Amino acid sequence: MAHGEKSQSRPIDMNTPSAARMYDWLLGGSENFQPDRDACVKLLGITPTIQQLARTSRAFLRRAVRILVKEFEVTQFLEHGSGLPTRDNVHEVAQRANPNAKVAYVDNDPMVLAHARTTLHENSNVMVIDRDVRDTAEILEATADFFDWTQPIAALFVSVLDCLRDTGDDRDPAALVKRVAASLPAGSYVVACQLVSDNPVVREKVTTLMAEATNNSWGRVRQSHEVRRYFEGMEIEPPGLVDIADWRPDTPPPPLSLRPKDCREWGGVARV
Ligand SMILES: C[S@@+](CC[C@H](N)C(=O)[O-])C[C@H]1O[C@@H](n2cnc3c(N)ncnc32)[C@H](O)[C@@H]1O
Repeated sequence: MAHGEKSQSRPIDMNTPSAARMYDWLLGGSENFQPDRDACVKLLGITPTIQQLARTSRAFLRRAVRILVKEFEVTQFLEHGSGLPTRDNVHEVAQRANPNAKVAYVDNDPMVLAHARTTLHENSNVMVIDRDVRDTAEILEATADFFDWTQPIAALFVSVLDCLRDTGDDRDPAALVKRVAASLPAGSYVVACQLVSDNPVVREKVTTLMAEATNNSWGRVRQSHEVRRYFEGMEIEPPGLVDIADWRPDTPPPPLSLRPKDCREWGGVARV
């Protein structure tokens, strides 16, 4: 079990695709099963650029974490929905910039947790929490002694809010981000992005496919103006809320003519 993990030990369901394993396949990973791959192929049939978007999202996560450590001097990260990537995880990126950086990962996919157990057991500056990302009180309790609550913490919501359904109550994605932001020390940050589309047909088709594939464990493709709600009351860092390919790119981003037109990952970084 990884450092600090609170296990609820559910079995891995190999027959129902999971968002974590589908994302892993889209990123070229091997921690997935045939039903995950089949669902991804169907998804590619609706939105052929989804693989490019997964890579763009992962690159944004890496840049945001690196810039938060190097420029904003943040050394504590709380990643909601950590996923399965085999390299350049948040602790690897953050600890390259500052070896003392601490990362708490939250996920509820048993395969993600099994993966974490095998890769993180020797890193005392990393903890793994087996919880639904919306269980804020329990997550804060689990991290109470892990983080220094007098110092800023960056709460990460990268490609996870699209996995959450609208509920109109405190389980709603916008309510979740607001609640977490309100519980962080002064000078903390929120990083968030999610899948958006201007095309209602694409929004409907992707949402339906993902809901059916994952046995209703998915949320919704949204519109960019809905992402703005996640950041209400926060001071958004330049360049603002954007196609994340444009969020402080290390190299010139692809011209608009070569970008995905069906869907985009939209988001940014804000100070709470
Ligand atoms: C698409 S992956 C994103 C992974 C990572 N944030 C990244 O950007 O590479 C979404 C992750 O969120 C997790 N997830 C989705 N809904 C969740 C929930 N309600 N509670 C906990 N984890 C959740 C999935 O298991 C998956 O690992």
